[in-house]
Amino acid sequence: MFLLKWISQKLCVLTVILVLSITPLALCNQHLSKEYPGLHHHIEDLGRDKGYKFLITGGYRPKVANLTKYLVSISHANFKKFFGDSHFCGGAIIKPNTILTAAHCISKKLYGFQMMRSIIIIAGTPNRLVKTEHTQIMKVKRVAVYGESKTEKSVDIAVIILQRNIRIDNVTTGVLPLADHPLRPGEKCTVLGWGRIFDHGPMPATALYVDLEIWSRWKCQSYRSFYMPSLLCAGVPEDPERDSCAGDSGGPLICDEKAVGIVSFGIGCGTPGYPGFYTNVYRYLDWVRANLANKLHINYILMVKLIFFLMLL
Ligand code: ARG
Repeated sequence: MFLLKWISQKLCVLTVILVLSITPLALCNQHLSKEYPGLHHHIEDLGRDKGYKFLITGGYRPKVANLTKYLVSISHANFKKFFGDSHFCGGAIIKPNTILTAAHCISKKLYGFQMMRSIIIIAGTPNRLVKTEHTQIMKVKRVAVYGESKTEKSVDIAVIILQRNIRIDNVTTGVLPLADHPLRPGEKCTVLGWGRIFDHGPMPATALYVDLEIWSRWKCQSYRSFYMPSLLCAGVPEDPERDSCAGDSGGPLICDEKAVGIVSFGIGCGTPGYPGFYTNVYRYLDWVRANLANKLHINYILMVKLIFFLMLL
């Protein structure tokens, strides 16, 4: 009888330990305040006064914008004047509850615990300034930023896990598959986003597309002070104005309907002789997949403390 009582008492304490050790996921993200160091490459000013023509120049609005369903706007939750006018980065839907984006979008500009509340993800909206019945506004549950918990060099990649799933109808919203093979230099790909239509210019209301070619690693490496092995570079040498620009960051570079790159940085926008730089998604597939899983965040320290406590009983 005494033994039974003792066992049930211990079981009860053990249950309390387990419940307490599974802390709310959001609480695990308080260490987000570390700045993303990769941004020393963010040299937008070099492209100033170069006399660009128009539209992320060489950018276009396709008649059938069938890639826009993969794109989301990452925006401050507080709009300035109009709906959608606080857009600051793009992202891609890679699972109904997961957005792939750039690390510098979510760890440089906004910090830690606060960030979960201060940003929203807007899906299903080709024109970011018009809210329609297809517009879905999602809240953030947690974010995972590459390299945040390790000492290794930061890579400009992050995932945002949403509180609820985005409704996927494959017309206004869609899930973009991840790259499934290494880079193919020369491959024709498309970047899309609401980034500036020229360096220091305004951001368009409707997402723009620009078609680019993936450059060889060898060619990218020749831009020594910008290139890092985590990156790929893309552009069109004979039409240098074709480029992404500020506000496109985090958005996808899509090749054959796969997420191959993430807009990271450039030298101004459309500066002749320079490509744009994108995180090479294929290199980080394992990291992305590991962060897609619905993990339980166990607080091991608390667990050990409670086990000691239990042993003292
Ligand atoms: N870092 C920029 C952003 O935050 C993206 C710049 C891309 N620039 C380029 N020339 N490809 O939106």
